[in-house]
This record gives sequence, structure tokens and C-alpha cells, in this order.
Amino acid sequence: MLIFVIELNDYMSKQRYSITAALPYTNGPIHIGHLAGVYVPADIYARYLRMKGEDVFFVCGSDEHGVAISIRAKKEGKTPKEIIDHYHNMIQSSFDDFGISFDHYGRTSDPIHHQTASDFFKALYDKGDFIEETTEQLYDQEAEQFLADRFVVGTCPHCGHEEAYGDQCESCGRSLNPTDLIYPTSTISGSVPITKATKHWFLPLDRYQSFLEDWILKGHADDWKSNVYGQVKSWLDDGLKPRAVTRDLDWGIPVPVPGGENKVLYVWFDAPIGYISATKDWAQQNNTDWEPYWKDKNTKLIHFIGKDNIVFHCIIFPSMLKAEGSYVLPTNVPANEFLNLEGQKLSTSKNWAVWLHEFLEDFPGKQDVLRYVLTANAPENKDNDFTWRDFQARNDNELVAIYGNFINRIVVLTHKYYEGVVPAPNHNTQVDEETIEELRSLPIQIATAVENYRFREASQILLKIARLGNKYLADEEPWKQQKTNPERVKTIMYNGLQIAAVLAIASTPFLPQTANKLKTILGLSLQSNWSDMTQSELVAVGTVLAPSELLFSKVEDDDIQIQLDKLKNQSI
Ligand code: 2FM
Ligand code: ZN
Repeated sequence: MLIFVIELNDYMSKQRYSITAALPYTNGPIHIGHLAGVYVPADIYARYLRMKGEDVFFVCGSDEHGVAISIRAKKEGKTPKEIIDHYHNMIQSSFDDFGISFDHYGRTSDPIHHQTASDFFKALYDKGDFIEETTEQLYDQEAEQFLADRFVVGTCPHCGHEEAYGDQCESCGRSLNPTDLIYPTSTISGSVPITKATKHWFLPLDRYQSFLEDWILKGHADDWKSNVYGQVKSWLDDGLKPRAVTRDLDWGIPVPVPGGENKVLYVWFDAPIGYISATKDWAQQNNTDWEPYWKDKNTKLIHFIGKDNIVFHCIIFPSMLKAEGSYVLPTNVPANEFLNLEGQKLSTSKNWAVWLHEFLEDFPGKQDVLRYVLTANAPENKDNDFTWRDFQARNDNELVAIYGNFINRIVVLTHKYYEGVVPAPNHNTQVDEETIEELRSLPIQIATAVENYRFREASQILLKIARLGNKYLADEEPWKQQKTNPERVKTIMYNGLQIAAVLAIASTPFLPQTANKLKTILGLSLQSNWSDMTQSELVAVGTVLAPSELLFSKVEDDDIQIQLDKLKNQSI
């Protein structure tokens, strides 16, 4: 009975989280910009909350509609279906190999998604939440096609960027209508479009202006990131306008209402619903209920995205959810800025990127190094640069020289002095006590940073644990005292091993492969909880350590040169 009560309490005190990571378009592979902006921070967050014992559902999937797919298909002479199948498989397996711990990875081409998005549209239609309007839209006479979204480029009326898309300017981030563009050109034929009348359904965002102002500007001034808050405020200050949520295209989810023939849902209408349909898919497969993850008012919904997705996740999708009425709104939308590569903007079309699947081939077993570098240098508040030299320096000077060195020293010495058996300590000195006190404070600091989406800071505090271990060994010099004062050395080694154990557990969300290796060396359970780090003894006296294993190795100059040459040769 007591056990039952404890379990019930445990269950009731769990916080439910739905953590979403932006659905990547299946028009190309994943690159380091995607990882740094979205997937690595989201994965750290999800892994951390799972370790805290929370009820976490971490979802992602492939975004398989929209003009980006049609353009890629045309370029490669393939059908859209061939394109999405190819890139979906590639993206999913590279996420798997990289170790992103999604609970479910869906597809927006799945029937469950088509049904869910269609029903969502119908629900809003039935409630009269759309404006149905015939307007003049850009039309390519050569291709005999209306030009939506990426089928048209032109000059952004807000910032003057000359390659703005029909739905968004990637330079200033504003959302656009094709007819807003100055000097529009068709990306299909290169011709200058004419305008032609066509009917569409518009989401009247202006109706949600005051709700969004109250909810975000008044309600989240303190807890949303300033880059997110600032963008939202600027849109709201401009005043929201109705926005078409249907398109004259042949690739997408058919508009499910009268008059919707030959039209599809705007990809940004269906894509975020993909989070919901993927949750349903997962729930069906796991015989559980999806609704609490989206409809229980206590659920925390967190969207991890890049900055170009802010308008969709903070304005459009919340307006859709509000209109439907039964869903929770996001608790936070921790969007990152962009990562550049060697001083230039990452670009799929210019092939200026480090592709995940290629990294995994070129640097086998170095997933954690990439996770670490992308976190330590994450574009959290401003755009940042990834350079191969920095990758090498952080690997060699931080992971090898600080983290790996500490672990190697403590484990090798334990084998040398005690044949790998953890010794019983004697009494602690003041230095020992101060070291232990600092050790106890570091996981708390990491937790605070992670809970506030400051993953860079968290990764540096993590490294402080290894620095603390190195300093302790360097100051106490067990190698000098072993002959003269072996009893003191037992205490030093015991304390050093407890530092190593805290490092292993605290590393779990950040460096999952390394954490598992280290836990195995120290004889710790792989299923550790965050709160385990409050225990005073993590590696018990008498535990036999596994043989030492190098956790990190140097990245050679040649390896870096190969990457730099490759980048230069592959770019268009
Ligand atoms: O920007 C992108 O890559 C989009 N495919 C993100 C979609 S996120 C979500 F809403 F589905
Ligand atoms: Zn612009």
C-alpha cells in the first residue's frame, strides 16, 4: 500500500512536457545549422527533463509539403514522392545515428497527418474562422501556374533583400505575400509574372492581435527570449493582417471544403499540425492517449525552432490553436539565431554546409564532439560562426585536455594503486570539504541554465566539473603522496572518483555517448536520475572499475584540412 501511495504521488507530481523540434523539409539533408539551432538544444532539454523524472514527449518529423519539395523534385527530375521518401529516410537515419532522442519521428505525408490537418481546417471553416476571398495573385504564364511562396522571388519591401520569397524574407524575417514583392520573378521559368484572380481562404490574424498582445507581450515579457519577444513585438506593432492559408498547387493536402478543388493547404498551415498528428501516431503505436499532451492545461508545450520560424510558431500556429479552442498554447518558444560556417551563411542551394550524414562518416564516434562544439558555440542570442579550427580547438583543448585528461588520470591511478577497486576514504580535509561543496553546486547551476534555455552556459558549467577534478588532483598530488601517506591518497582518490561520477551523470543530456562510457567505467547505472547527484556517495567503496578507455582523442590537422578543402571544392 505504501509503495502504491509513493508511486501515485510520484506520478501526480510529474510535469508533462510536449517538446517539439521544427519539422525539417525533406528537400535536402540535415546540416550543422539545423543541429545547432534546433535539434541539439531540444535533445539536451528533453534528456535533462527525462532524467528529472518528468513525463516527456519529444516529437519531430519530416515536413513533406510545400514548394520547397516541388522545386527540388523539378531540379532533380524526380517526383515529389521520390524526393520526400529519399530525404525522409536519410534525415531520419542521420538523426538516429547522431543520437537525437525523439520519442517519435513522423511524416506529414502520412494519412494520419492528412486526416488531422484536414479536420483542423474543417473545424475552423465550420466555425466561420476563415475569410473566403478572391484576390489577384501572381501567375506564371509560361508555366501556367500560380506563384506561391518559394515559386517567386523578388525584393523585400521591408529591407530591400533581393532574394525574398513569396511568403517570407529570410533576411529580415518578415512574412510576406507574393504580391508584396518588388520586381517579382518566377523561380520556375524565370519570367515576370502577371496577376490573375483566384479564390483562397484567409486566416484573419487581425482578429487575434489583442489576444497575442495580452498573451505574449504582457504575459511573456520576462520568460521568453529577447530575440523571440522582439520579433513578435515588431509584427504586432506593425499590425497583423489576414493571411492566405491555401494555395493553387498540386502538391500538398487538398483543401477539404467546397470550392477547394485543385487547391492545397499552405504548408505552414499543415506543418505545425504535424506535431499533433505525430503525437497521435505515437499514441496509437504505444496504446496511450495523445490528448493530454496537447489539451491538458497543465501540459507545457515547448517549441524549439530557428529564428526564421518565429512568426509561424508565435503568431500563426497559436492563432490557429486559439481559433480551434481545445489546445494548449506554447509555454515557451526558445528560438535560436543562425549559425554561419567559416564566416559565410550556411546554404543548402550553394552547398555551403557541413552535412550531418557526411560528418558521421568522416568522424565516426565523434557525435558528442559535434554536440559539444555546437552547444558551446550555439547561436543563442546572435548569429554565430562554426569554423573547423574552432571544432579542433574545442575538441583538443577542452574535451581532450580537460574532460578526458581528468577521467584518464583518476581511472588510471585507481587501477595503478588499488587494482581498480574504489578505496575507503579517511577523514576529509578543509580542501576536500570545499571541493565537495563546489561539486554539489555545479549540477544545480547546470539545471538552472538548462531550464532557462541557456545551453551554452550549461555546457561550460559542465566542463567546470572536470576542471574542478583536475585542480583537485593537481593541488593534492596523490602521485607524490602515495609512498609517504597512502591513507591520505585513498581519500583523495575516493573524492576524485565521486567528482568523476557527478561528471558522468551531469554529462548525460549533453554528451550521451560519453556519459554512458564513463558510467560503465565507474560501474554506475546507465539509467541515472538528475537527483542522484545529491547523494554523497555515487561510486561505492569496493566497486571495481572497468579498464580505462580514452573518452576523447585529438583531431588531427590533416582531418581539418580535408574538411576545409572539401568545403571549398563542393561549394557552388
Ligand atoms: O523551416 C523549416 O524547415 C520548416 N520545415 C519548419 C517546419 S516547423 C513545423 F511547424 F512544422
Ligand atoms: Zn526583408
